[in-house]
Amino acid sequence: MLPFTHIVRALPATVPFVPPEALERKQGQPLALRVGANESNFGISPRARQAMVEAVEQVHWYNDPEGYELRSALAVRHGVAREEVVLGAGIDELLGLLVRLFVEPGDTVVTSLGAYPTFNYHVEGHGAVLHKVPYRADREDLPALLDKARKVRPKLIYVANPDNPMGTYQRADELRDFIAGLPDCVLLLDEAYIDFAPEDALLPLEVERAQVVRLRTFSKAHGMAGARVGYALAHRDVVAALDKVRNHFGVNRIAQAGALASLGDDAFVRSVVRQVEEGRREYAVLAAELGLQTVPSATNFVALDVGSGERARRLMQMLLQHGVFVRMPGVAPLDRCIRVTVGPSAERQAFAKVLCAVLPQLDIGDEIFC
Ligand SMILES: Cc1ncc(COP(=O)(O)O)c(C=O)c1O
Repeated sequence: MLPFTHIVRALPATVPFVPPEALERKQGQPLALRVGANESNFGISPRARQAMVEAVEQVHWYNDPEGYELRSALAVRHGVAREEVVLGAGIDELLGLLVRLFVEPGDTVVTSLGAYPTFNYHVEGHGAVLHKVPYRADREDLPALLDKARKVRPKLIYVANPDNPMGTYQRADELRDFIAGLPDCVLLLDEAYIDFAPEDALLPLEVERAQVVRLRTFSKAHGMAGARVGYALAHRDVVAALDKVRNHFGVNRIAQAGALASLGDDAFVRSVVRQVEEGRREYAVLAAELGLQTVPSATNFVALDVGSGERARRLMQMLLQHGVFVRMPGVAPLDRCIRVTVGPSAERQAFAKVLCAVLPQLDIGDEIFC
């Protein structure tokens, strides 16, 4: 018998996300619309493209394992020291490393029921016990999370702001009260979508407060999901501890160059954010015309409420039959929605067309206006 750890032996075979590529392989044809993974179909900054093309010329060299230039630029951007910034292959990798830093088998960890599953995946992979707190009114329920934390004394507590899968957000003042009430534990504040959020969602940075680790990514507004670049802004002791366990060559040379150039192209990111705002409004109007509702979103996706988990699952399958890839929340009551990434105008029109074509078969509402 292979000497797997008892934790690995107890884990079910699991895939955190079925990738769109697997759907294409199964269907034997490419997807027409890939609007399920909150990637940015606005593409990347021309400056990032140029920098990455140039970096290819040096790809026979190892990358800078200290990520010096990118970390320096991020430090300047956020008004922190370079020693308070650590890079990772996306937030996903950093979540795994942070779990490894703080969580031992049998420890408790708190998150929300239906929240970002990759965090849970890492926690379970380390043999810890997850406590999941239901959402309230489609938002992560900070008071209930706090109650739970006081009861179970977790090592870590996870909050995404704005949140995936519903797209809702917490105001900075709500988060401040929440943090003030936390028992002795570390808050992982996942801000993957913060570029799309209103200003009052942005908690001021206080990296000297070791209890809070902020997680950011180039995957969303910067459009670089496939390059795998994320970072944490944290107390220097946390960054130093991550240096003991991280994959030092994990953020490759091309990705570092692209992220650095993209960071210097604010106009590009602003334009993506503006178009996403326009797209969210457009989807809200579309939904209303179809007799549906959207959950107000502070992200680059919209949760479209179709009334029940069963209907949402059916709609997702029907869309897939038309080559449209969307995802949906995994648990009730959030699973009454499908989650659609907000892309460029042409893509939105194409999605609207397919939605209007399939919706009558779902038997929702009598009047279809398109
Ligand atoms: C809440 C949240 N955190 C993290 C990620 C992944 O970020 P990254 O691509 O940097 O690993 C996602 C991606 O969808 C997300 O929704």
